[in-house]
Amino acid sequence: MPLCAGQPFPRRAIRVKETVGSVQFAAMKTVHIKSFGCQMNVYDGQRMADLLSEQGYSETPTPEGADLILLNTCHIRARAVQKVYTELGKLRDLKTSRKAAGQDTRIVVAGCVAQAEGAEIQRRQPAVDLVVGPQAYHRLPALLEEARRRRVVDTDLPVDDKFGHLPAPKPAAIAARGLSAFVTVQEGCDKFCAFCVVPYTRGAEFSRPVVQVLAEIERLARAGVQDVTLIGQNVNAYHGEGPDGGAWSLARLAGAVGGIEGVRRIRYTTSHPRDMGEDLIAAHRDLPQLMPFLHLPVQAGSDRILTAMNRGHSAEDYRRLVARIRAARPDIALSSDFIVGFPGESEAEFEETIALVDEIGFASSYSFAYSPRPGTPAAERKDQLAPEIVSARLHRLQARIEHHRQAFNHAMVGRVVEVLLERAGRHPGQLAGRTPWLQAVQIEGGAHRIGECVPVRIERAGSNSLFGRSLRAGDLAA
Ligand code: SAH
Ligand code: SF4
Ligand code: F3S
Repeated sequence: MPLCAGQPFPRRAIRVKETVGSVQFAAMKTVHIKSFGCQMNVYDGQRMADLLSEQGYSETPTPEGADLILLNTCHIRARAVQKVYTELGKLRDLKTSRKAAGQDTRIVVAGCVAQAEGAEIQRRQPAVDLVVGPQAYHRLPALLEEARRRRVVDTDLPVDDKFGHLPAPKPAAIAARGLSAFVTVQEGCDKFCAFCVVPYTRGAEFSRPVVQVLAEIERLARAGVQDVTLIGQNVNAYHGEGPDGGAWSLARLAGAVGGIEGVRRIRYTTSHPRDMGEDLIAAHRDLPQLMPFLHLPVQAGSDRILTAMNRGHSAEDYRRLVARIRAARPDIALSSDFIVGFPGESEAEFEETIALVDEIGFASSYSFAYSPRPGTPAAERKDQLAPEIVSARLHRLQARIEHHRQAFNHAMVGRVVEVLLERAGRHPGQLAGRTPWLQAVQIEGGAHRIGECVPVRIERAGSNSLFGRSLRAGDLAA
């Protein structure tokens, strides 16, 4: 049975929470941050909140009443961008009505749409005060100051390390975010898949230095974080500078994270099949804290499409890689991303994707209709498919993915698994947590508490959660 490895700090999170009320600012301003897109944006949103808290801003969960509204945007598909403009229309109305009541509201667009569209955003929506790209967040206070006088756009992609300039979160802020935390260790992409905007919106691959990452995770662990996900657009391409001056791989970094007191669970995402090094595969066998769940996007099952996508691997390479990973860690569960309807994809090629899904048996997966993105090579192709064909394929693929997801979850019934309890459950008396395979579990009864890791017998699999009972001695008696 996979265990929650390591020892947590005893009740550290609770002690820290008591200090929340003591943080006072002379004139408290509020900021509402809404993040779209991937985990990198979630992390960036938190770091911007930390930075703005030093400027006297406290976070508010809704835009109404906020002095500053920050949309942290995603450019990955056309629909993600439409969402931003719809949201901005609503915020313009909010800004106008607040202004009529004598209140000032400032609107900032950050993230990948900011990087890709720059000044175009303010042309389409003049209520936007500031546009700031993902590599310029550390300049936010100065940019906000400048935006009082004129509309500002900062979409520099400097080699400069923004992370080195962003303040560390305060213990109270960490505790408020819960037991799990994302930590960006790598950013950017040099792979240039033919469909993807990320290399243009996030810039070149960059790895944070080992010492900086470890210091951040030590700080998180001291404030109660037990489950750490190392994130990056190509996280397994990590090659950060180590304390010895040499480059460390992700496996070596994860090993050092495993040595931090209080860290019970380590995950990493998103990985590229080409960067799955031998030492990382071995870490799945040797590092007890490394969870047996791996998001390893393959995108498609046809070699011709994979080549056209510029993925740099074949379907057979992927199969062989999965076999090696499973040999190292037999209970590992895999998930993937898929794109259907890439230009020129034939029915037979789509069938190869379905065949791969059935063969690997992913525990879960994300699947998307191909969206032509401006500036990417695939968008220029003349053999774009009709939307009806693409959506019919997407439905078929999603049905297969769902079938395997349910099969994976139902196979847990009757098993005993370690669950890290993260929050109150849906109903009184329930607690909610996650298995090592990232499945949500609701637990009935018992005397266990948030922050504890308990053995749980899974009794039932619902469509999105598992349900079970703690088997810990004290809980059985309770
Ligand atoms: N770096 C990660 C993926 C980042 S983007 C990787 O290489 O796997 C997240 C997912 O969005 C991708 O895996 C892909 O499935 C999807 N995606 C990216 N560009 C897309 C596009 N133009 N249309 C549809 N889906 C896309
Ligand atoms: Fe996009 Fe490909 Fe880079 Fe992933 S590896 S971020 S899909 S270009
Ligand atoms: Fe979207 Fe940018 Fe992430 S485009 S998926 S927010 S890297």
